[in-house]
Amino acid sequence: MARHDLVIANARVAHSGGIELADVAVAGGTVVAVAAPGTLSGAAELVDGAGMLLLPGGVDPHVHFENPSWDTATAHDFGLGTEAAALGGTTTIIDFAFQNPGETPLEAIERRRALADPKVVVDYSLHGTVTDVSQRSVDGLPALMAAGCPSVKIFMTYSTSGWMVPDAELLKIMRHLHARGGTLLVHAENDGIVEACRHECVERGDMAAGAHARSRPKVAEVEAIRRVLTFAEETGCRTYIVHLSTGAGLEAIKEARGRGVDVHTETCPHYLMFDSSALETADGPRYVMSPPLRSADDREALWAGLSSGDIAALGSDDAAYIQEDKSRNVNDFREIPNGVPGVQVRTAVAHSAGVVAGRLTLERFVDAVAAKPAQLFGLWPRKGVIQPGSDADLALWDPRDVWRGDLESIHTNIGYTCYEDVEFTGRPRHVWSRGRWVVRDRALVAERGTGRYLERDPHGDPA
Ligand code: URP
Ligand code: ZN
Ligand code: ZN
Repeated sequence: MARHDLVIANARVAHSGGIELADVAVAGGTVVAVAAPGTLSGAAELVDGAGMLLLPGGVDPHVHFENPSWDTATAHDFGLGTEAAALGGTTTIIDFAFQNPGETPLEAIERRRALADPKVVVDYSLHGTVTDVSQRSVDGLPALMAAGCPSVKIFMTYSTSGWMVPDAELLKIMRHLHARGGTLLVHAENDGIVEACRHECVERGDMAAGAHARSRPKVAEVEAIRRVLTFAEETGCRTYIVHLSTGAGLEAIKEARGRGVDVHTETCPHYLMFDSSALETADGPRYVMSPPLRSADDREALWAGLSSGDIAALGSDDAAYIQEDKSRNVNDFREIPNGVPGVQVRTAVAHSAGVVAGRLTLERFVDAVAAKPAQLFGLWPRKGVIQPGSDADLALWDPRDVWRGDLESIHTNIGYTCYEDVEFTGRPRHVWSRGRWVVRDRALVAERGTGRYLERDPHGDPA
């Protein structure tokens, strides 16, 4: 009988700490050996990785699949969304469980799991999300965390959608999380500033998609980041700023970290690829997301932060709406659903516009798309790394494959991509999730319902 189910031979194996030419053996869904080329024998299946890169499967810490919002729902469901992730070499996604009114955070997780479990093709987890602000929600946090969900997202804005968590409750939530090694994820925008600026746009008749950026100025993000990091300093709560969009916000994060605040952040592919001029084009509504696209200077500041590691991770914030939903209210920016697709291109943006363009080292690329999200969200070393004992979540990349981000290549049901004119270099040829083939020769071979829900660990050193 073969000792190994699979050996991938002769690839350049990429770790966040370095690159090595090695053979990788898989048995029972787990990596069992990483060894010098030619030294592993006894494989049931041998894949030659010569000239290729072998990466740990990506970990996308921020997606929104089939999420009811803006009187509709995001169109990528857990099946299609995880398939798109797999095609991009991402083998773990973390979605959110927004509360329905009256639900505890844990009940929301259970409801979302019932939707996701029969559909997912790769492993997944869920962040708790407090959108029903009540003492019951706060009291429900220990049960949530005891059930393997140690991260909770809150919104500092969207008062009009009923999602905003006011400061007093925010402070309470942070105290609860800190006591148990939990992490707060924050959508940081000052709601008062946003509401006032939206009103000003309406007053002057500035209503098309371009007004979306003017209605949510940089100062709204920067003030909210500074405020929540003051709370983090007070409570000790680990804080993760989601979808960072500004250079000034990054400076605020670095300052706080310098004072000893336990803060981490991510940015998203769209902030690295586009600027607010995209909102002024005929396709402007497609580029409406919050926080909005910013200036070219912000984009460069974000690349620099991703390169240095001050921005630890890359999350796609995939929130894909069908073209009809995006274009229904083009003359009222307030009614355009917020969000863009991105789960498939997240890794390609970082490889192509990052590594190939000379902005990121290969090691930082692996760190940002796989290792750091796994470490920050309690999945390391099961996910995000290729080493004996880790899940055999692997992506064999052809680093020279040139392709376009159009509907020919992107797996979606929304009728467009935001990357139709973008040429990428590098993408996965084969992808495995726990040793199972999910993508073979760039085609999906995954079976729905074969991904698993992941309970996660709290981070170290809780009070
Ligand atoms: O516009 C966005 N980012 N939509 C998704 C929800 C969120 O705020 O992350
Ligand atoms: Zn958000
Ligand atoms: Zn989001």
